[in-house]
Amino acid sequence: MCGIVGYTGTKQAYPIILKGLKRLEYRGYDSSGVALLNNGELNVYKKKGKVAELEESLVGINLDAQIGIGHTRWATHGEPSDRNAHPHLSSNGKISMIHNGIIENYALIKQELLNKGYQFKSDTDTEVLLNFIEDIKNNNDCKLEEAIRIALKRVSGAYCILLIEEDNPDTIIAARKGSPLVIGIGKGEHFLASDASPIIEYTKEVVYVNDYELAIVKPDELILKNLGNEKVTPYITKLDMELAAIEKGGYDHFMIKEIFEQPSTIYDCLRGRLDAKEGYIKMSGIDLHTEQLLNANRIMIVACGTSWHAGLIAEYIIEELCRIPVEVEYASEFRYRNPIVNKGDVIIAISQSGETADTLVALEKAKENGAFIFGVVNAVGSSIARISNAGAYTHAGPEIGVASTKAFTGQLAVLMMMALNIAKHKGTITNDRYNQLLVELEQIPEKVDSILKNAEEIKKIAEKYKDATDFLFLGRGYNFPIALEGALKLKEISYIHAEGYPAAEMKHGPIALVDENLPVVFIATNDPYHEKIVSNMQEIKARKGKIISIITEGDKVSPTISNDYFEIPMADEIVAPILTVIPLQLLSYYVGTLKGIDVDKPRNLAKSVTVE
Ligand code: F6R
Repeated sequence: MCGIVGYTGTKQAYPIILKGLKRLEYRGYDSSGVALLNNGELNVYKKKGKVAELEESLVGINLDAQIGIGHTRWATHGEPSDRNAHPHLSSNGKISMIHNGIIENYALIKQELLNKGYQFKSDTDTEVLLNFIEDIKNNNDCKLEEAIRIALKRVSGAYCILLIEEDNPDTIIAARKGSPLVIGIGKGEHFLASDASPIIEYTKEVVYVNDYELAIVKPDELILKNLGNEKVTPYITKLDMELAAIEKGGYDHFMIKEIFEQPSTIYDCLRGRLDAKEGYIKMSGIDLHTEQLLNANRIMIVACGTSWHAGLIAEYIIEELCRIPVEVEYASEFRYRNPIVNKGDVIIAISQSGETADTLVALEKAKENGAFIFGVVNAVGSSIARISNAGAYTHAGPEIGVASTKAFTGQLAVLMMMALNIAKHKGTITNDRYNQLLVELEQIPEKVDSILKNAEEIKKIAEKYKDATDFLFLGRGYNFPIALEGALKLKEISYIHAEGYPAAEMKHGPIALVDENLPVVFIATNDPYHEKIVSNMQEIKARKGKIISIITEGDKVSPTISNDYFEIPMADEIVAPILTVIPLQLLSYYVGTLKGIDVDKPRNLAKSVTVE
């Protein structure tokens, strides 16, 4: 949450920072701002609302500067407003700072500063940390770098901070713990950002800064140090990402672009790993660690949100195919209770961004207890990817729409291959079943493509039900988590209240909600529970609920009970969730856009949840 950008070099800083902020807006869009240093004069401009509003407010102003920092905010401490927007200025007006994260002990530090006579212009924890740094710098008569180091030893919480100061007009100082920071290395210039998207068009050489590291960045020099003031050699990596991947490419929204990319992203995920003809799955992350995975007494899956839904499906598949007990945990719960984690336990961490704070801290805790961490991550080089002992990338490419779509189907593809691979090694699957499922998986991109060709049918359904105030999503077995995912998607981008339930649980409460105004979405594909779910549909119909069903082509019964239905191609129940989720992604997209909502930036949300 919150996106940060910095530039120091010979070019104009403002256009680079502004473009970067637009790319990082998925991380928060409550307010934005820039601080620019021109000939030793520090100017801060900030505005409530999206980056476009900041841009508009700065038209006609002289923004000449070759160094600057910028921020797009997801509010934590203090309402979204101009005065709470970053960058903040220190009390003497000489230092400016932006921050992604939360300073947990800010109240205590603020009180100390208030006692010393400091006054605050905002309600933010960031301004407290900034004035704390200024105070240390003045008292100790030391350099800014030293003051930051001393301050950071006192603070608890998460941060990525960037600071510039009038007295040091070509230098950005940055530090991180728990919130991401990438530094791009150009010729006589450096770029700093929360992820690589603001950097990609200028350079492919980057350094991912680690926790507890401090970067002193000048146009032609990058020094990394730890908090003990020892130099650390920067590890330069090459970005494997193209500019086109982070642009809309003719689509109205990133979300619909990403939904339509799924045939190719799933193909990319399977490519080089699965060969149905030769009958194998090769995943180096698993092949190199078969010992840990095969001997696991149990597997724990730790994730949040949509990634947690992928984990639930993985639980069903791994237990079925590998006969290993699986527990699926919300990372936020796992990290605060006292879970039993022993040496040799396997934890599968699922995360699109690889930066979700709760998941990251849960893993750190499990790793300390000797667990083996297997990361299923989309963002290459992210914190969760780096903390994992082994893993498999989902290869979905940058996901920018706030609602997760292509990353989810990538997660499912990886988890399915993983389960098949372990089952094969363990001997818990017959050769016939193994080969059959390889063929099924290999056919997925084509089947997703055929679903997307009928997207207009879903749009018509969306038009019909867009004014409903509530939705219920029901599914059984492998499609139960898809019911949860369908409800989550609709909630987040259409603001319609929606709940997902196992279809049979409906009778234990939610059925009381059913009347002629309630659309009930059934995921009722061809599987062993089909007759049971048809009975559930009858129960809803008897109470006048409106039935929208996602069914397998050739199903003659469900259409006779449903008010509306959408067919997906025939598929084995284990791989079906990758298909059934597609019409639900489309449904939420069309309902959201028909309601006039900015689906790429729905209210209150941010793509990467780097605060608890
Ligand atoms: C929903 C969504 C969120 C994320 C959750 C975890 O569309 O995007 O629920 O799935 O915040 O994020 P990652 O996967 O980045 O750890």
